[in-house]
Amino acid sequence: MIPKDPVHIVEVGPRDGLQNLCEYIETEKKINLIKRLAESGLKEIELGSFVHPKAISQFRDIKEIVDGVVSIEGVKLTTLVPNLKGAQKAFQSGIKKIIFVFSVSRSHNLSNVRRTPNESLEELKKIKELSSSYPEVVIRVDLATTFGCPFEIKVMKDDILSYVEKTGKLGIKEITLCDSVGFGNPRQVEDITTTCMKSFPEITFSAHFHNTRGMGLANALAAYESGIRSFESSIAGLGGCPFTPGSSGNIATEDMVFMFEEMGVETGVDVHSLLSISRYLKEILPGVNLESSLLRAGMPKQREIDLHS
Ligand code: COA
Ligand code: ZN
Repeated sequence: MIPKDPVHIVEVGPRDGLQNLCEYIETEKKINLIKRLAESGLKEIELGSFVHPKAISQFRDIKEIVDGVVSIEGVKLTTLVPNLKGAQKAFQSGIKKIIFVFSVSRSHNLSNVRRTPNESLEELKKIKELSSSYPEVVIRVDLATTFGCPFEIKVMKDDILSYVEKTGKLGIKEITLCDSVGFGNPRQVEDITTTCMKSFPEITFSAHFHNTRGMGLANALAAYESGIRSFESSIAGLGGCPFTPGSSGNIATEDMVFMFEEMGVETGVDVHSLLSISRYLKEILPGVNLESSLLRAGMPKQREIDLHS
């Protein structure tokens, strides 16, 4: 029997989705998108990244984005940081949660942030030290390429466990297991999530899947059945990693919310609001391929009747 515990949905579209677009989106549009996402009931939204604009030019306005939304109440607003400099800027911006990213795969981490995973852990140690001056800020770690890497044949489970352990030893309590390229399959997801949760019960794990090979939702369900209760997804299925060949969209948030709600699992998010945001994105991003099944197919008739009755 599948449990029915509620899930926490983390919206990563404004960061993971927009970072992949060639076209620059004006600050006002990004702020508008984030405000509308907050109104849909989402309780955690990743706004963008504090990175060098040469690495990701989409976030050259990250400071203005944070300024434009930081007063929104009742929603955890986060930004991604790849290094100490990014963390310094994020702490100074007034953001209350940062996401530090590194990859289990050495080659992916070198390609993404020009460091080995152990060098990234050294950087995390410095960020943790700096955070003592910002006691209210939470640090989550995104562990990329947990379920496969475009550059390495296999990601070893022992490596995953070792990096989780080293991260936990630095005092991090939240880790997201990320499938940045959609390599994972449900059985593997069950194996890795179960092992991580059993081995490190003091850590809260989330899951982040891309739908590159059509297995995003199947993987999310496998993770849910294994006990994961927090999931990252991206509005309209925007997404991909600019440093990962062949990567494509995240699971669309509306598809994920729809799946869980249809199963009787509460998300606290209004799927109709999400759909209207996806339609807005379709309008403002005419050339972009939006990988959302619900946007393409619409809600089932019965749900529309329920809504209006
Ligand atoms: N924000 C703004 N500028 C930054 C920065 C940050 N977080 N980190 C470094 N810089 C600047 C430095 O000031 C320096 O600027 P200058 O050339 O004008 O003097 C320049 O970047 C190089 O600094 P360096 O210390 O060599 O950079 P680094 O090796 O520590 O970092 C990264 C390189 C991590 C910043 C870069 O690879 C990066 O941002 N990658 C993007 C990662 C990402 O977001 N991937 C997608 C998400 S998974
Ligand atoms: Zn991603």
